[in-house]
Amino acid sequence: MANPTVETPQGEPAESKAKKPGIADALKKIFSAEDPDPLRIISRRRRFVMAGVLGFLGVNFLMFLRFFFPRTLFEPKTRFLIGYPSDFGFGVDTKFQNKYRIWVVRNTEGIFVIYAVCTHLGCTPDWKAAENKFKCPCHGSGYDSEGVNFEGPAPRPMDRAHVDTTPDGQIEVDVSRLYRWPKGERSEFNDQGAIVHV
Ligand code: FES
Repeated sequence: MANPTVETPQGEPAESKAKKPGIADALKKIFSAEDPDPLRIISRRRRFVMAGVLGFLGVNFLMFLRFFFPRTLFEPKTRFLIGYPSDFGFGVDTKFQNKYRIWVVRNTEGIFVIYAVCTHLGCTPDWKAAENKFKCPCHGSGYDSEGVNFEGPAPRPMDRAHVDTTPDGQIEVDVSRLYRWPKGERSEFNDQGAIVHV
């Protein structure tokens, strides 16, 4: 007589409720000494150890390879062209503020570039055209249209970036070379490279 299928109260066959073998069962099988063939037990254990060793070596090898592919840091360029002197009228030009963090200023002597970093704690001041000054939003330092501090906690004028002209007459800026005017010291603002005389 056929064995009737036993069903759970939900109507599913009892076998489908049987526990599926997990990692613990597999490990138990590997390390169990119940197998009648001892060679099979040794071979299973050997395979297990080999898999562990190979896995460990594989992970270390991948870490070793990773060492040769350092994370790349894309720093903004420090040298760049901003156009021809004729592109700049008298006063403050803010068009490169977001891209290069600079303002281009033209006065009667020439063209220079202010590095847009407050000399107090490094915030970016705002150009207030109506008031003809830069105002730092952090602690209120104020600078005139040439970046010279006159109010607030800023200890010195904002630095100026190196400027030069290329053979075809464009202005090249290098913000990795800055000219400073520390309080009570000599101003570097008239040094060669601090201004383009046009
Ligand atoms: S960072 Fe500009 S005033 Fe403090």
